[in-house]
Amino acid sequence: MDIEHTLSELTLEEKVGLLSGVDFWHTKAIPRLNIPALRMSDGPNGIRGSRLFNGVPAACFPCGTALGATWDTALLRTAGEMMGREAIAKCVSIVLGPTINIQRTPLGGRGFESYSEDPVLSGDLAAALVVGIQSTGVIAAIKHFVCNDQEEKRQRSNSIITARALREVYLMPFQIAEKKAKPKAYMTAYNKVNGVHASENTQLLRDILRGEWKFDGLVLSDWYGTYSVAEALSAGLDIEMPGPSRWRGSLAQLSVSSGKITESVIDDRVRAVLRTIDRVAPLGIKDFASEGTIDNPETEAKLRDIAVSSIVLLKNSGKVLPLSEHKTTAVIGPNAMLAAYSGGGSAQLRPHRAVSPFEGIRARAKSVRYAQGATNYKKLPMLSNITFIHPNNTPGMEMRVYHDPPSVQNRRLVEAFNITDSSCFLNDYTHPTLHTNLFYVEVEGMLMPEADSVYLFSLTVNGTAKLYVNGKLVVDNETKQQPGDSFFGSGTAEEIGSMALHKGEEYKILVQFATAPTSKVRKTGATQMGLGGLQIGGCPVTDAESLLFDAVNLAKEVDQVIVCIGLNSEWESEGWDRQNMDLPPGSNALVNAIAEVNPNLVVINQSGTPVTMPWVRNVPAILQAWYGGNETGNAIADVLFGHANPGGKLPLSWPIRVQDNPAFVNTQLEDGNVTYGEGIYVGYRWYDKIDREILFPFGHGLSYTEFQMSQLSVEAYAPVSAKVSGNVANIGHRSGSEVVQVYLCFPTSMVPRPVKELKAFTKLLVASGETEKFEIELDLKYACSYWSELANAWVLEKGTYHVLVGSSSQKITLAGTFDVAVTSTWTGI
Ligand code: BGC
Repeated sequence: MDIEHTLSELTLEEKVGLLSGVDFWHTKAIPRLNIPALRMSDGPNGIRGSRLFNGVPAACFPCGTALGATWDTALLRTAGEMMGREAIAKCVSIVLGPTINIQRTPLGGRGFESYSEDPVLSGDLAAALVVGIQSTGVIAAIKHFVCNDQEEKRQRSNSIITARALREVYLMPFQIAEKKAKPKAYMTAYNKVNGVHASENTQLLRDILRGEWKFDGLVLSDWYGTYSVAEALSAGLDIEMPGPSRWRGSLAQLSVSSGKITESVIDDRVRAVLRTIDRVAPLGIKDFASEGTIDNPETEAKLRDIAVSSIVLLKNSGKVLPLSEHKTTAVIGPNAMLAAYSGGGSAQLRPHRAVSPFEGIRARAKSVRYAQGATNYKKLPMLSNITFIHPNNTPGMEMRVYHDPPSVQNRRLVEAFNITDSSCFLNDYTHPTLHTNLFYVEVEGMLMPEADSVYLFSLTVNGTAKLYVNGKLVVDNETKQQPGDSFFGSGTAEEIGSMALHKGEEYKILVQFATAPTSKVRKTGATQMGLGGLQIGGCPVTDAESLLFDAVNLAKEVDQVIVCIGLNSEWESEGWDRQNMDLPPGSNALVNAIAEVNPNLVVINQSGTPVTMPWVRNVPAILQAWYGGNETGNAIADVLFGHANPGGKLPLSWPIRVQDNPAFVNTQLEDGNVTYGEGIYVGYRWYDKIDREILFPFGHGLSYTEFQMSQLSVEAYAPVSAKVSGNVANIGHRSGSEVVQVYLCFPTSMVPRPVKELKAFTKLLVASGETEKFEIELDLKYACSYWSELANAWVLEKGTYHVLVGSSSQKITLAGTFDVAVTSTWTGI
């Protein structure tokens, strides 16, 4: 495209039209000048496509922390290539990911989406993924720039942070990605940074990103994260998402005509949009084209590989693992039958299929029995799991959309379809005949109880709803509504009702819902997402004591027990943070009770971020399995039975108690402010500095074999680079992978520094009895410098640097040094 020529042909109205979305996922096309629309899609762990509600199935990759746990840049590059190809199948030209914020606390609702607490691990992995995505011609929009490190009131929270911590910890993953991969788009964060919203932050967007880093791509806002007209345009926010626009359109034109900004500011923003359109033109994606997916055995196999590589063997006393497939096995726990494949919120997508731990284990082991042991739902499970639809008795519920409320006689049906998931987030639902945010929905399903029981029913909404069983009102989430954390924090709490139902009888469940404008709940700082949504829950009342009793009895009867516990997308999601680091009620008691009756026990924890494990000493083996995407259960089974040797390493520190974490006293908002009081001491930098005990350290992860590192050699070509090399021998009986972690320590610095900082890493596959050589290049600018607020620059200090090499941040086995002769300063990338 001749960008300058096209620009000269556009009217001001057309230019401004290009600077916002037209709907949830598309920008505006201008056919007159052959300017196509851009389609964007989340996101960090797969390509959902242009429908969150009832979307086209997709490959779901393991969550961010799981990808972080692979410590494998080659694998992330492959994952990126797969995401790029899936994006093309979904006619998407901009992928909204990866997410590379920092887990400054274990409680961040979206901690699972980001890779690591460490900027180098995050940056290197993000760079690899971006290279992979962009190698297909698709653009990666890295997010959220910057300091969206917690969810509470994310639109108004103000991260108060020192320049040094901002540069060294929070901007660094973006800076590394920019240096190594040149992502062609950035998404701004919702929050403020030192008093100014990221989406209108001149220092971040103009001075750092476009000035120092010479970024020449597209900057877009997070969804409903634009808060001004002239300020955002001037700072460099190219596109307001989603559409229809709130802040551009005639308001942006008025800003020009009133002289608040000049048309040249608009032109700069339009240039970035046109450049982006030009960059993705070779993909040949047609506007608003229909979506496909890549669902084949190769995708499945690769997803399984990635999930396997992410699993971390936290503990294996007495070599309980790997288990035998030939012994009698009990699979116990609330996460066994549930495929916890992803965290919640905008990272969620509809997977091709999701394999539960139980299914994966049953496919491997000969004799498997199951007991639930405890429940772990936060809200009631989806009602659609136990309902069916007449006349064919297919599982699920029927959904009907109307323009008018039920009070209007013979109201016209917009459309009807079947759903298998009664959690319906309608944010991006569209229909050509709907021209307002206010419309009405009915959801209907039949229920036939297998036993006489009291049933619980529930409604959680952003909007208003009532639930009827055989015409009787059982749940009312309309007359009075309690604010809750649902629907990205803008919805209600769960409203529960109950009714005694009888075996063999048929019950009609009918829910009447009206969309978001009818909601009585209004919250500041939460993101109001489009049209709202409803979640319908329901299940028979369960008796916790008998669940536990049955599980303990089963555990006594088998040779080995696998206990599946953890969180799921209900506990880790968007718009709110976790209240504590604990497992759902009942899980700790379950683990302890099973450990008492059968010592041959493995605990599998699934969570995106750390949970407390008060039973850690009572169990011999623990696997951390994250949210593993489509192949969750298969990957777990591969590791459990030794078909794969675990090689994952923790990408974050695992505290004993939530109180131990560096941000503990600084997570709650105070007059809208969140003070990053721990400064640069995030994660292991904190635990090291104050010498505080930790459950499992950053970088930790065991294997079924053993490695020995030796022969460290450090050659410095100061002030530019240093080469760190050595050997890794596999002295065990199985082949496996080891991550060589290179930390630097600089005790004679002029400024306070962490005890050690990760500066590079590499993952090696070593066959049993073999030795592999590693050679790692350190860029000394990045490895040795600190950010000086006084100099407003990086300072590479002279002195002797200690190189510490090991297999975790607390298992350092080799040490060396190199010297830098003169101090120098630098800026840029
Ligand atoms: C999230 C973004 C996401 C966007 C679109 C927002 O709520 O913060 O990460 O890309 O929604 O789904």
